[in-house]
Amino acid sequence: MNNSNAIGVFDSGYGGLTVFKSIIKELPDYNYIYLGDNARAPYGDHPYEIVYQYTLECVEWLFAQGCSLVILACNTASAKALRSIQQKVLPVKYPNHRVLGVIRPTAEVIGNYTTSQTIGVMGTRGTINSRSYPLEIEKFFPAVNVVQQSCPMWVPLIENNEHLTPGADHFVQKYLQELLSQAPNLDCILLACTHYPLLVPKLLEFLPEGIQLVSQGEIVASSLNTYLLNHPEIEAKLGRNEPPKFFTSGDATVFNARASLFFEENVASTQIKALQDR
Ligand code: DGL
Repeated sequence: MNNSNAIGVFDSGYGGLTVFKSIIKELPDYNYIYLGDNARAPYGDHPYEIVYQYTLECVEWLFAQGCSLVILACNTASAKALRSIQQKVLPVKYPNHRVLGVIRPTAEVIGNYTTSQTIGVMGTRGTINSRSYPLEIEKFFPAVNVVQQSCPMWVPLIENNEHLTPGADHFVQKYLQELLSQAPNLDCILLACTHYPLLVPKLLEFLPEGIQLVSQGEIVASSLNTYLLNHPEIEAKLGRNEPPKFFTSGDATVFNARASLFFEENVASTQIKALQDR
């Protein structure tokens, strides 16, 4: 199988589909391959070495399908694996390939969403403990104060489609309160996990007035658009006009049923065994 130079979009599971949806909307003509590593998700609590190993395996699988550009549509993978892949692997093994993440493009603009100069970042333990967001945001908006909250129960609630039930209320309120108690003047919350946009209706039930929720899909899509405009040598090689293809390391029937919640369209995926067997 060789898919004619598609853009690869990767996530540990379903969350990246929220970003993929925005990318396809903004850049509909390119060929795309989505890969969810559902068999080994969630990544949020895995140690650095495991997230790096799994992410690299998935990126190399996408390269093998003919993708020369891969987007890590996962904050956890972007926080824990992207830099090593960009600095240690690509120059040596794949000098003509590119891998981009979601943290830097978000950090470049997120300061524009706050007037109180205080932002809350909510994400997986992996993303929050890496401190990637405070470090990156400081480079672009040194005056902005960033407070963080890890939300380890949110991805399991979302992946099990329990996130909009009354049972989810406890953990939604708990993490919101823990975040707000750190900085009562924050006026912007970044949903720094690509799963979290599904939780927005529930978050709005408990969110105090005057606080804006920011999801990453449109930010990442717009940044990819700019990247391709600035790199015509990469853009020119990309294939066009084929329908998107979806792959999962998990069960394809389960993936298709749940993926449509994130992608808001029917999804027909193919299971790949290569990643499970390692
Ligand atoms: N969607 C991933 C992210 O953006 C995390 C999900 C997981 O824990 O695997 O961080």
